[in-house]
Amino acid sequence: MEYFLKKDYLTVISFIVWFRMIANYNHKSETRIIGKIRFLSLFFLVSLFFLHAETFTYDHALAECDKLDLHPQIPESDGRTHTLNKKGAVTALFDYAIQAFIEFSAWKEVLEIGGTYGDVMLAALKQNKETKYTLNDIEPRHLFIAAKKLQKKIQNKELSEDSIKQVNFLQGDITKPEDFKDMGHYDAILVGRVLHFLNPKEMKIAIQNIYNLLKPGGRVFVVAITPYVKRYEKFIPIYKKRVEDGIENPGYVESLLEYVNSDVTTPEQIKNISPEPFFFLDDNVLEKFFESQGFKVIECKMMPLAYNAGKSISWTLDGRENVILIAEKPIDQKQNDADKNLVDLCNTFFAFLKDKFQNLFK
Ligand SMILES: C[S@@+](CC[C@H](N)C(=O)[O-])C[C@H]1O[C@@H](n2cnc3c(N)ncnc32)[C@H](O)[C@@H]1O
Repeated sequence: MEYFLKKDYLTVISFIVWFRMIANYNHKSETRIIGKIRFLSLFFLVSLFFLHAETFTYDHALAECDKLDLHPQIPESDGRTHTLNKKGAVTALFDYAIQAFIEFSAWKEVLEIGGTYGDVMLAALKQNKETKYTLNDIEPRHLFIAAKKLQKKIQNKELSEDSIKQVNFLQGDITKPEDFKDMGHYDAILVGRVLHFLNPKEMKIAIQNIYNLLKPGGRVFVVAITPYVKRYEKFIPIYKKRVEDGIENPGYVESLLEYVNSDVTTPEQIKNISPEPFFFLDDNVLEKFFESQGFKVIECKMMPLAYNAGKSISWTLDGRENVILIAEKPIDQKQNDADKNLVDLCNTFFAFLKDKFQNLFK
């Protein structure tokens, strides 16, 4: 919040400066330098309106964590740790797709969307000293706590000092392409339990964004919640009827709270559920979304939960609680040909230079 406020103050100040300049505008007396300042202040103002993303180094994130007096959250009795913005919880146990992502991440440049407190990042850093990891979340405080957790791992000698050089923290919203600048940059992207917080329109934008952020041949790894969970089982008959009726996005609900099963959810847990819309996903819907954005789906299936060995009073129903997807951004044949032509051209040019150079000394 503090970040958005700071930006809002800056926006207001630059708006006042710009407005005063416009009010005092006198075309004849305007010098080139004043014109440039006017243009720059307008540019700055527009940028502040549109740029909400912020990148933090490890030191910067750690300093913010101390300044805001944040501490790693204590897990609940079921081992899950709540988010600070009512966007679900994280577990220390990794699902099938998350494990596959960690294995795939070795030696690569990767991005995790909605990575909260960085538990997957810490596991990836431990596995490989060359992986470059960008941890993203919409909530900056999550990222600051993630930096603190990394510091603890270094202090306990579970990770080396050098792992600091492997990380980068990016606050941003995956449904806002302008929050992400490194297009075509990543070998792999993890989106663990994030997509179900988006509405269908936002999900389409998020998947397009993920596609653009990946290198050709790069992979996306997804985990999301299906309607087959004990906590929201009231919704299952409605969902099944919608599927029968051929409704396009059968798992989308306007308010999640409406469907909570209070027999298996404590009042404390209910307090952490957002009343906002929610999108229960299944294999058909998820696959369709990714294919329509150009992905080649490698694997997509409903699976049991990883945590509590798949046995949670509040969540476990019938082994279909999660849906996972692993997909690839196809290598564009045309791009491949273009790259090959460029390499051929360079080879010819260097061969020509070598020839000329050798001739000089003959
Ligand atoms: C349930 S937690 C997921 C934690 C972890 N990825 C996992 O799989 O256990 C969801 C996280 O996604 C973040 N999030 C929600 N909407 C987002 C968005 N539009 N862009 C980026 N992050 C988002 C939330 O702030 C939260 O930290």
